Amino acid sequence: MEVITARTAGFCFGVRRAVKMAEEAAKKYGSCACLGPLIHNDDAVRYLEGLGVRTVNSTAELKEREPVIIRSHGVGPEVYRELDELGCEIIDATCPDVARIHALVKNETDEGRHVVIIGERHHPEVAAISGWCGECTVLETPEEAEKWLSEDPERAKIPVSIVSQTTGERKNFENSVKVIKKQCTNLKVFDTICNTTSNRQREAREIASTVDAMIVIGGRHSANTDKLARVASECCGNVLLIENADGLDLRELRGAKRVGVTAGASTPEWIIKEVNRKMCDENKTVETVEEETVAAEAVEETAQEVEAPEVKEVAPEAGEASFEELLERSIKTLHTGEKVRGVIASITQTEISVDLGTKQSGYIPISEFTDEPGVNVADIIHVGDEIEAYVMRVNDVEGTVMLSKKRLDSVKNWDSIVEARASRAVVEGIVVEENKGGVVVNVKGVRVFVPASQSGLPKDAPMTELLKRKVKLIIREVNQPRRRVVGSIRDVTAIERRAKAEATWSEIEVGKRYHGVVKSLTSYGAFVDIGGVDGMVHVSELSWKRIHQPSEVLKVGDEIDVYVISFDKETKKISLGYKDPNENPWVKFTSTYQVGSIADVRIVKLMTFGAFAEIVPGVDGLIHISQIADRRIGKPEDVLTEGETVKAKIINIDNENKKVSLSIRALSDLVVPAPAAEPEAVEEEDDTPVVVYDTENPPAPEELPAEEE
Ligand code: F3S
Repeated sequence: MEVITARTAGFCFGVRRAVKMAEEAAKKYGSCACLGPLIHNDDAVRYLEGLGVRTVNSTAELKEREPVIIRSHGVGPEVYRELDELGCEIIDATCPDVARIHALVKNETDEGRHVVIIGERHHPEVAAISGWCGECTVLETPEEAEKWLSEDPERAKIPVSIVSQTTGERKNFENSVKVIKKQCTNLKVFDTICNTTSNRQREAREIASTVDAMIVIGGRHSANTDKLARVASECCGNVLLIENADGLDLRELRGAKRVGVTAGASTPEWIIKEVNRKMCDENKTVETVEEETVAAEAVEETAQEVEAPEVKEVAPEAGEASFEELLERSIKTLHTGEKVRGVIASITQTEISVDLGTKQSGYIPISEFTDEPGVNVADIIHVGDEIEAYVMRVNDVEGTVMLSKKRLDSVKNWDSIVEARASRAVVEGIVVEENKGGVVVNVKGVRVFVPASQSGLPKDAPMTELLKRKVKLIIREVNQPRRRVVGSIRDVTAIERRAKAEATWSEIEVGKRYHGVVKSLTSYGAFVDIGGVDGMVHVSELSWKRIHQPSEVLKVGDEIDVYVISFDKETKKISLGYKDPNENPWVKFTSTYQVGSIADVRIVKLMTFGAFAEIVPGVDGLIHISQIADRRIGKPEDVLTEGETVKAKIINIDNENKKVSLSIRALSDLVVPAPAAEPEAVEEEDDTPVVVYDTENPPAPEELPAEEE
């Protein structure tokens, strides 16, 4: 028979801590009281009674000044007041996770919000949480939530904050929230379900689906054990719910080759071991072992000797140590700066609870686990894993120890940073902070300062854009005594740029196209990075239209396609083109018009010798003053105005110099009948010389044709 014991079986972190505190109190005071059974397990309660811990059901049963233990479920503020009045010494074993819910609901109540608790109305934990709320509502199921809202429609309008009992069923919580969310307009939801419970149920389900029989150990009054058995029965047809080894009827396991074992949060380790031992004994394959709590090693060794049954225990827990060891550990005082080792008890969205085996409960805020953005902690670590961390703060009043894994990593990785400095190796890190002089990058837990000048960003650019980004850097300086490290992102960029430049120069050729980024603009052109190398696009190569500044077409940072016009490897100069040859306006013009065509042209500039008119965007022609009208005119503006559109005849196209001559006069017979006395004028039009159309650089007067007399 193979026995598989769940590693999440038995005490949760909160219960284990409470039991330790009770053992310690019993030792210190000789006897003390506990408000309600410390855990839902009769055997464990009897064991504690043997140590001197008596269970009372209310404060009325307490003796004056009697030391009293508050169990992990916690109590409301009125109980603390009563205990104060009685002068009782309080041993507060409220689970830190539960205590945080108390603080949360109090805060929400103080802010004027109505607290809704999803949980079992009569559960002591729920009763305690209610005590911290003033007025609140407890809902057990989604149906109750529906009913609560329908009873009074005004409830949907009040500010509501929802929390859950830590051992609540996730599905029930989520469905209840869904119902309330549909109607409430001002809602805050706090998922306070403890992962310990869901992890235990998940593991029970996993094991149950692979075994022939499943044993669930737990107290008769434990709701959490009941739930565990229900979950196991979903995957296994033979589930035995027992309180202890006495309740195990081995006949029910007959024929089973694989047996799974799990236990509720209130089941002590020694009961689980007794059950395992009973299965070993039954097989008559183990020698009789000592009574009571048996060290796991002994069970394992014996099992190995005889080969069967095989007892698999994953991730040994603190409970395997002897009582003396546990006691010694539990009274150990922790100090800031110490390195500690513990077992992960639960993981929530905000923190990781760590069982340190001491009287304090350890926790690592998620922000102290890693700086890596987007990391799902639950993918990296799991409940039951061992973890090392650095003590950041010890709070003796609350009984908590804040830990940091990041800090410990930083100490561990210091050597690798020193090595990287020596070898100038490129390291990676996350930008975690921006300050006056630059940014701080977390490299394997070590804080590396990168001055603004080494950030790789342009001068005066905001450093904020680097925040939370993964960057590569080179360590420039390590000051061991001051533990100060300086790095440079720019050095890496420079190395990468050099490599790219070499590649670009080795394969560059005229006509080759590149996708580049505009790095800077000057009055004569734009510099474009085509891969570690900047080429220049002259202003005349930027647009087919006439432009005065490159900024009319491009801006720094634009990504554009360019092609190589020419290059010189010696002088490292590259001339680039940007204009699309297919968009060449002269080609468009000549494919549409020829000499004799009549076009609608727009007067763009009036000069003394004539008017420039746009025929198509990018191609202007000149209407010489003699071609503006069928009569002599003093100046072009006597007839034309800038911006006006007129019809003109194309009377000459100079393909070589890309010049066009236009004439309105040639059309005048269509508009105004030509005077009979001037027929020669029409003939003369063909002799009109070609004129320049560049309005910015008009031809010298001597280049222009003489005005007709
Ligand atoms: Fe246990 Fe505390 Fe979670 S008592 S179930 S660890 S909230």
